Amino acid sequence: MPRIYIETYGCQMNVSDSELVLGLLGPQGYVRTDDPADADVMLVNTCAVRDHAEQRVLGRLGVLKGFKRAGGVLGVVGCMAQRLGPALLEQVPQVDLVIGPDGYRGLPELIARARQGERGADVRFQQWEHYEDIPPARPAGASAFVTVQRGCDYRCTFCIVPMTRGPERSRKLADVVREVAGLAARGTTEVTLLGQTVNSYHDGEHDFADLVRAVGVLPGIRRLRFTSPYPTDFSERVLAAMAETRAVCEHVHLPVQSGSNRVLRRMLRRYTRERYLEVAAALRHAVPGIALTTDIIVGFPGETEQDFEETVSLVREVRFDDAYTFKYSPRDGTPAVKLKDRVPDAVAGERLERLIAAVRQVARSQNVALVGTTHEVLVEGKAKRGGLLQARTRSNKVALLDGPDEWIGTYRRVRLTGTTGSTFTAWPVAQELAVVG
Ligand code: SAH
Ligand code: F3S
Repeated sequence: MPRIYIETYGCQMNVSDSELVLGLLGPQGYVRTDDPADADVMLVNTCAVRDHAEQRVLGRLGVLKGFKRAGGVLGVVGCMAQRLGPALLEQVPQVDLVIGPDGYRGLPELIARARQGERGADVRFQQWEHYEDIPPARPAGASAFVTVQRGCDYRCTFCIVPMTRGPERSRKLADVVREVAGLAARGTTEVTLLGQTVNSYHDGEHDFADLVRAVGVLPGIRRLRFTSPYPTDFSERVLAAMAETRAVCEHVHLPVQSGSNRVLRRMLRRYTRERYLEVAAALRHAVPGIALTTDIIVGFPGETEQDFEETVSLVREVRFDDAYTFKYSPRDGTPAVKLKDRVPDAVAGERLERLIAAVRQVARSQNVALVGTTHEVLVEGKAKRGGLLQARTRSNKVALLDGPDEWIGTYRRVRLTGTTGSTFTAWPVAQELAVVG
């Protein structure tokens, strides 16, 4: 039986797409291997949002080509594949196939052709494509990702995603519900709904509020998460659905990108700093105890020291629990590459360091305040060190605790006993308390 090796970079949607690719190839007789030296087919599922992500992939391709055996296949799929297309075949001669996010149905055929020495690329968008008939091969476990929307119709001027994932489309609510019900039947208790602007979900009939309610009441679904929402797509209906659906977790990842209205305008984000703060307040009101995390870009063209300071002050004002911080990376073909007033790399680097320090400080003070409180955690697996178990609160905080392996995949009541500033140590508390709260 042919063996398939797949390596995944980038966001959760890529993780989900890799499960789809494995789900597609499984029925074709492929078995998965974790060792590239052992593989007949090697695939790299790629990200294109920053140049750094692409450079890493090019480096990995340089290593993986060394494992390629006679008749073996090396393929690049995902966003970087879509962005570069056939040019990637020229750039890396050992690559046999290049497929964008809408072309995975063609994988078996392109693999078969590659085995006969014919290299190929497929980077066509398929506006209808949801891979509805292909069950993803998910790892066993309590948690699952479920893609509910593909593509993006927004046009943030820095972002390559609309060009790599094509136009936005939502799956039918009934299809999502059927999939999640099936997952619950085999033991999944936590589901994360995925989309680039997931709260703008609309299947023609149902909006995101309907989806949250429909999935959140499915028997066995104890935790419902979604990522990433767009700040101005939290309608009153969506806020009410979140407030009234018990499974909805107390955490939202809400990308802000900048705290300066000048920069937000140049990024074509559809909100002001003031509007973003209103949305954060509305979320805190709807879901008490909610943790908020974000994405921030520094060094966007035209960003002044004062603009940057407004971003830092926003971090303090919102009191983010965490933030992914990035230096702006120009992406060919996006509107922002034409903007003047590029920020010198050294300046952007120095701002990034100051921003990270501010984020850490705010996160630490939030987390220190949580020490001593009790939470329900889902035990996710073994911690990397110290023979402990790693668990997660509904508010997405990571807690390490001592306990038997049998706890993996179960829910426990714990008290947070200490924090490093970002993660926690925890003690199990009496299970009778589990019925409270
Ligand atoms: N809609 C998606 C965004 C995908 S890109 C979401 O909300 O998750 C993920 C993050 O990468 C963005 O929020 C942004 O902060 C960052 N990013 C995107 N393009 C970038 C660029 N050209 N340079 C630096 N960071 C970028
Ligand atoms: Fe990118 Fe903006 Fe869409 S960040 S994915 S264009 S919402």
